[in-house]
Amino acid sequence: MFGMVTLISCEGPEGPAGMDGADGTDGVDGNVSCLSCHTQVKMDAIEDAFAEHKHVSGTSWSYAGTRESCAPCHDGEAIVTFLNSGALVAGYGVGLECGSCHNDHASLEDDIDAPVRMVASVASVAFEGVTYDHGTGNVCATCHQARRDAASYYGAEDATYTRKFTGDDIAAYENASVGPNGSITLDGDTLIVVFDVPAATHVYTSSTHAGPHHGPQANMFAADMGSVAGTPFERDHHTDCASCHLSDTTAATGYGHSFEPDIAMCDACHGDALDITAEMAAIEARMDAVAEALEALHAIHVDEDGAVHPMYASLPTAQWNAFWDYMCLWEDKSHGLHNFNYAKQLLTAAENALGL
Ligand code: HEC
Ligand code: HEC
Ligand code: HEC
Ligand code: HEC
Ligand code: HEC
Ligand code: HEC
Repeated sequence: MFGMVTLISCEGPEGPAGMDGADGTDGVDGNVSCLSCHTQVKMDAIEDAFAEHKHVSGTSWSYAGTRESCAPCHDGEAIVTFLNSGALVAGYGVGLECGSCHNDHASLEDDIDAPVRMVASVASVAFEGVTYDHGTGNVCATCHQARRDAASYYGAEDATYTRKFTGDDIAAYENASVGPNGSITLDGDTLIVVFDVPAATHVYTSSTHAGPHHGPQANMFAADMGSVAGTPFERDHHTDCASCHLSDTTAATGYGHSFEPDIAMCDACHGDALDITAEMAAIEARMDAVAEALEALHAIHVDEDGAVHPMYASLPTAQWNAFWDYMCLWEDKSHGLHNFNYAKQLLTAAENALGL
C-alpha cells in the first residue's frame, strides 16, 4: 500500500513537478499534506493499535461473521457490501479492516481528510421507520445499535414455559422467579421449572441473551430503547461517535485507533462545570445497586468477571422493565455518558420498581 501511495504522491495530479524540484511550490505542499497521514511511522502506529482492538481481536467476528443475519455487523467485508447495497450477505468471519470504515479519497485537493465511508442517516434495526444521525459516526451507528426493543418481549396471551436445568444450572435456578403459579421440581439430576406468565401482569425473559444486544449506543443517544422513552441527546456538540472515540490523536493510541475517548481533552473544555469521570462513577454506583437487586430476584446472574447474564424468569412487569432498562445501560457500556439524563431517568424508574 505504501509503495502505491508514495508513487501517487510523486506522480499524481497534485504536482510531479514539485517533487522534481523544478518549480515546486504546489507539488511540495501536496506532498507534505499527504505525509501528514501517509508515513510508514504513522500508519504502523495505527495498524498496531488497531490490531489490538476488539474490532480485530474480538471473539465475535470468527463465528457471527459467517451468519447472514449477523454478518453486516460482525464481518469486515460484509459491512461494506451492506453499506454499498443494503444486501445482507454472510461474511468470511473476518474482523474489521481499514477499508471497512475507510474508502478512497473523493478528492486530493485542498483540505484532505481521512476518507471515511460517508453513510446517510442509519435505519434503526429495532424500530421501523426510525433513523439515527451521527455524522461521520454513521458508519459506527450502522452496527452500534439495538437489535430488539422491550415490547418484543411483552406477551399478548397468558403462557407457561417449562425448562429443564442440569449441572451448575440447578443451583442457579432452584430459586428462580417463576410467576404466580409457576413451580420448581427436582427430578433426579434434572430441575424442572415451570414459568407462569400472565400477560396482564408479567413478562418472561425467554433467553440468557435477552436484552437489546451488545452495542445499543445509537439508541442511548436517541433515548428510545428503555422501557420508557426519554429525551434524545442532541447537542450541537458530540453526537458524532468519531469526534469522541477518535479524539486521542497521539502516536501512543495509534492516532485514535484505540477508539478510546481522550478524557483529558474533554476535561480541558468542560472544566469543573461537568466532572465527566465523577458523573460516570455516580451512574456506575447506581447501576451496581440495581444489579444487586436484580440478582436477588434471579433476573440476572453476575459472573466472577463481573459480566452480567440474563436468567430465564417470569417477573412482574415493573420489575422486568427494571431488568430491561438495566440491560440497556449495561450493554451501552458508557456508564450513562451517551445520554446522562436518560440514564438517570432509567435508573430512577428501576430503583422505584425494585424498592431501592
Ligand atoms: C488526513 C489523513 C490523510 C491525508 C492527508 C491523505 N490521506 Fe490518503 N488515505 C488516508 C486514509 C485513512 C486512507 C485509507 C486507508 C486504507 O483504507 O487502507 C487513504 C487512502 C489513500 C489511497 C488508497 C491507498 C490504498 O491502498 O487503498 C491513496 C492512493 C491515497 N490515500 C493517496 C493520498 C495522497 C496522494 C494524498 C495527498 C494528496 C493523501 N492520500 C492524503 C488518509 C489520508
Ligand atoms: C461492522 C460493524 C462495526 C462498525 C462499523 C464499528 N463497530 Fe465498533 N464494534 C463492533 C463489534 C462487533 C465490536 C465487538 C467485537 C468483539 O468483541 O467481538 C465492536 C467494539 C467496539 C468498541 C469496544 C467495545 C468494548 O467492549 O471494549 C468500541 C469502543 C467501538 N466498537 C467503537 C466504534 C466506533 C467509534 C466506530 C466507528 C468509528 C465503530 N465502533 C464501528 C462492530 C462495529
Ligand atoms: C471502525 C472504523 C475505522 C477503522 C476500521 C479504521 N479507521 Fe482510520 N479512522 C476512522 C475515523 C472515524 C477517522 C477520523 C476521521 C476524521 O476525523 O475525519 C480515522 C482516521 C484515520 C487516519 C487519519 C489520522 C489523522 O491523524 O488525521 C488515518 C491515517 C487512518 N484512519 C488510517 C487507518 C488505517 C491504516 C486503518 C487500518 C489499520 C484504519 N484507519 C482503520 C475510522 C476507522
Ligand atoms: C445491528 C448490528 C448487529 C447485529 C445484526 C448483530 N450484532 Fe452482535 N454485536 C454488535 C455490536 C456493535 C457489538 C459490540 C458492542 C460493544 O462492545 O459495545 C456486538 C457484540 C456481540 C457479541 C459480544 C462480543 C463480546 O465478546 O463481547 C456477540 C457474542 C455477538 N455480538 C453475537 C452476535 C450474533 C450471534 C449475531 C447474529 C445472530 C449478532 N451478534 C448480530 C452488533 C450487531
Ligand atoms: C460525547 C463523547 C462521546 C460520543 C459522541 C460517543 N461516545 Fe462512546 N463513549 C464515550 C465515553 C467517555 C465512554 C466511556 C469510556 C470509558 O469508560 O472509558 C464511551 C463508551 C463507549 C463504548 C464502550 C467502550 C468500552 O471500552 O467499553 C462504546 C462501544 C462506544 N462508546 C461507542 C460509541 C458509538 C458507536 C457512538 C456513536 C453512536 C459513541 N460511542 C458516541 C464518549 C462518547
Ligand atoms: C470544544 C469543547 C468541548 C470538548 C473538547 C468536549 N465537549 Fe462536551 N460539551 C461541550 C459543550 C459546549 C456542551 C454543551 C453544553 C450544554 O449545552 O449543556 C457539551 C456537552 C457535553 C455533554 C452533555 C452534558 C449534559 O449536561 O448532558 C456531555 C456528556 C459531554 N459534553 C461529554 C464530553 C466528552 C466525553 C468529551 C471528550 C470525549 C467532551 N465532551 C469534549 C464542549 C466540549
